[in-house]
Amino acid sequence: MDRLIIRGGKPLRGKVKISGAKNAALPSLVASILTSEPIHFSRVPNLRDVHTVCTLLSNLGVRVKNRGRGNYELESSQVQNYEAPYDLVKTMRASCLVMGPLLTRFGKAKVSYPGGCAIGERPINLHIKGFELMGAKVKLHRGYVVATAKNGLRGNSIYLDLPTVTGTQNLMMAATLAKGETIIENVAREPEVCSLARMLNDMGAKIAGAGTDVVTIQGVPKLHGTRCKIIPDRIETGTYMVAGAITGGDVEVVQCDPETVDSVVAKLRETGCKVQVRKSSIRVKGNAPLRSVDISTAPYPGFPTDMQAQIMALMTLSDGVSVINETVFENRFMHVAELNRMGATVHVQGSSATVKGVPKLSGAPLTATDLRASASLVLAALAADGESVVHRVYHLNRGYESLVDKLTALGADIERVSGPPV
Ligand code: EPZ
Repeated sequence: MDRLIIRGGKPLRGKVKISGAKNAALPSLVASILTSEPIHFSRVPNLRDVHTVCTLLSNLGVRVKNRGRGNYELESSQVQNYEAPYDLVKTMRASCLVMGPLLTRFGKAKVSYPGGCAIGERPINLHIKGFELMGAKVKLHRGYVVATAKNGLRGNSIYLDLPTVTGTQNLMMAATLAKGETIIENVAREPEVCSLARMLNDMGAKIAGAGTDVVTIQGVPKLHGTRCKIIPDRIETGTYMVAGAITGGDVEVVQCDPETVDSVVAKLRETGCKVQVRKSSIRVKGNAPLRSVDISTAPYPGFPTDMQAQIMALMTLSDGVSVINETVFENRFMHVAELNRMGATVHVQGSSATVKGVPKLSGAPLTATDLRASASLVLAALAADGESVVHRVYHLNRGYESLVDKLTALGADIERVSGPPV
């Protein structure tokens, strides 16, 4: 299993280009199911999860052409399979996004019930509740969610108990071809929801309100092809911003969308870092000492849960005590034990972690547990004295395109080594 060897203590300097967003690419690629006409994508990131969703779509009969350099063409005129199998869904929960498009275009979908993952149980009850309100019959059979809508879906009013991101995306896609109007309340407002709504409207859908907490969709008989450029990855953006801060360096993140990381900019400024924001770039200069700040994750536009592990790594080197509340997922502190093995002092009590800053971290052998925890360990290792070895780095392949190359270009001493299973 591959591992990363990182020799820390070097301030990172230079520019890093942000890739297309994983969490925008996945729903947008799946949306190609909604039309028989081709859709041309650009800026699709080269990530494991993208390859997984393309395999899933190909299995359904979608014609997937990878034109190279982030350009894809997808065409769904020959879809003849409506099942997302266990072996694919278990590797990527976002596979459940095919339910809405399959159900609304073909009247059927069979998707392996996505199990939990390292960070939590992650149910899809709200997705299912919405489909049932739109007239689908849904049952759980031998580990699969089997949904049918013989006469198609019909619009309805749906209230989401929680602003679920993929739940909002799934139901929005389902509503585009439903008969009549669908109003979804308490929806997620993430940029990845807005970019999907823009793409669907470009395909002929009639969606209003994306980015607010109520989305209204007028169903239409069919959708047509379009071109879709994937938006920049705001979590990758935040991760490299923290990389500049935690190494006391000077990193400029380019080809990003600063508006989507307002909360991260604000928090880094509170720590004393210099953060310069331009139209499509953000420059972060580390500051010593780093002031401790308190963080509470929240749905967008709040501080993103996907940046919690990364900001915690930064806070381990602050000059005080930082309290970090994780309000979105129930088990998203797996990085804590590994950070403490590097000399950090983090104490977890329920959904809250108290981080008492220390003067330095020491390199150590580390094990990644999930995508964002892995990023946290890499950031800590970049700042630590001495050598760290991060095992199970396949997690990183899911969400960080060309991570080693990008960090090396910023001056990091990092190498990827293929090795025996750990
Ligand atoms: C999306 O996951 C992202 N994944 C996650 O990013 C991100 O952490 C999460 O949104 C929150 O921002 C993708 O977009 C592919 P949710 P999602 O449904 O949609 C509960 C990463 O690192 N819930 O918004 O699965 C759920 O348990 C990944 O890139 C229900 O109870 O998250 C959680 O507590 C990790 N019932 C909360 O809502 C439901 O039916 C938010 O989950 C759905 C969700």
